[in-house]
Amino acid sequence: MDWTFFLLIVFIILAGMVVLPIFSGAPWHPLLPGTIRRILNFAEIKQGETICDLGCGEGRVLVTAAKEYSARGVGIEIDPIKVGLARMLAKFKNVDQQVKIIRGNIFEFDPQDADVVYLYLTHQAMDRLFPEILKKLKPTVRIVSYRFCIRGMTPEKVSADKTLFLYQLSKGKEINSYT
Ligand SMILES: C[S@@+](CC[C@H](N)C(=O)[O-])C[C@H]1O[C@@H](n2cnc3c(N)ncnc32)[C@H](O)[C@@H]1O
Repeated sequence: MDWTFFLLIVFIILAGMVVLPIFSGAPWHPLLPGTIRRILNFAEIKQGETICDLGCGEGRVLVTAAKEYSARGVGIEIDPIKVGLARMLAKFKNVDQQVKIIRGNIFEFDPQDADVVYLYLTHQAMDRLFPEILKKLKPTVRIVSYRFCIRGMTPEKVSADKTLFLYQLSKGKEINSYT
């Protein structure tokens, strides 16, 4: 096969992985390992807890949560290529029993088992998710959002650089404007 054609196909696939999800919720933006640990520490993930990543990309946050924090992970992702990558990564890192990757749409997903919901989406996607999703969540759930706050909810904790926001539903239900 002509190399130019091959590279063009690879470029189109990669561009599609990054650009197309913008229209469904959020673009793809892989995180640095240090940022992943910062997010998980900020979320105060404990052994045995279930963390649910809505729009999990290649699943590195969930794999790290399983590997380093002994948590369980559930990821939902719309892009089949990233679903495949996330499943392969979980298998490669020997955490495929702890990490479940589902191909689907975050707006139709029910994260009722989550102890922690992790979000790295856009404001537009979060405006679509909230407040409807609150009805499906455990009253004790912790919601952690990276880079985008949840408009209309008061965070329990904000990182010093204002890139991480933690919401606790049991407290949030009383204090945020969604009640
Ligand atoms: C900014 S990335 C975050 C990836 C991962 N959560 C992380 O923090 O590394 C957003 C991801 O959401 C996915 N996504 C966008 N819209 C979606 C939707 N409606 N349903 C499921 N996944 C979606 C994108 O394909 C992309 O992988």
